[in-house]
Amino acid sequence: MAGLRIDTLTLFPGIFQGFVQESILKRAIDRGLLDLRFVDWREHAVNRHGSVDDAPYGGGPGMVLRPGPVFDAVEAIGAAEPREGLRRIMLTPQGAPLTQAFLCGLARAERIVLLCGRYEGFDERIRIGLGFEEVSIGDYVINGGEVAAMVVIEGVLRLLPGALGDPRAAAEDSFMCGGLEHPHYTRPPVFRGMAVPEVLLSGDHGKVAQWRAEQAAARTRDRRSDLLAQLRETRDGGTQ
Ligand code: ADE
Repeated sequence: MAGLRIDTLTLFPGIFQGFVQESILKRAIDRGLLDLRFVDWREHAVNRHGSVDDAPYGGGPGMVLRPGPVFDAVEAIGAAEPREGLRRIMLTPQGAPLTQAFLCGLARAERIVLLCGRYEGFDERIRIGLGFEEVSIGDYVINGGEVAAMVVIEGVLRLLPGALGDPRAAAEDSFMCGGLEHPHYTRPPVFRGMAVPEVLLSGDHGKVAQWRAEQAAARTRDRRSDLLAQLRETRDGGTQ
């Protein structure tokens, strides 16, 4: 079993080098849970100058990514057409905001293709012609899709059965149930005058669970009331 295959199309594959060699990701690759491939689509830039970008029609600053090399690279990895089990994603600030629910869906795929942009953006024919899902990691602009692709890869990895030491870890993450997670404490019991809440030292699992649920609810209410509104909408929409 080769695990979940993720092809990342990028002009800067070197950015991912350290990323794949560290920690949980490396372990997941070594154990065959993940099959990560990085495709430098500059290799498909076969025009006169071998360039992947060009000046925008209509003028203006910056460069636009040419459609030809992207289409060629996507075809070369056999991802030009949508099909069952394959998720094809373009990382762009104009995409739908990434959510935990979206990552959960991705973790069920057989194969994922991530397309990372650079410069002013993609020629519109790339969006129109390839029909990738478009995903943003937030309402801000970074230099390219590579860091966003790393966010997606890590988010999916945490959800793969067997990727984390303790299978409960991912299930208890913030956002898994639509809200934020409860606070955590470890030794020492008192640190610089700050004590661990008594209930966590009580050994009473029922009380601990109740305290954690209350803390998580209070945190979500205080910091992210927007999440609560979303949860209510999902719940009320789902019971009709
Ligand atoms: N590329 C540049 N900014 C981005 C963002 N916010 N999300 C995804 N890809 C991007």
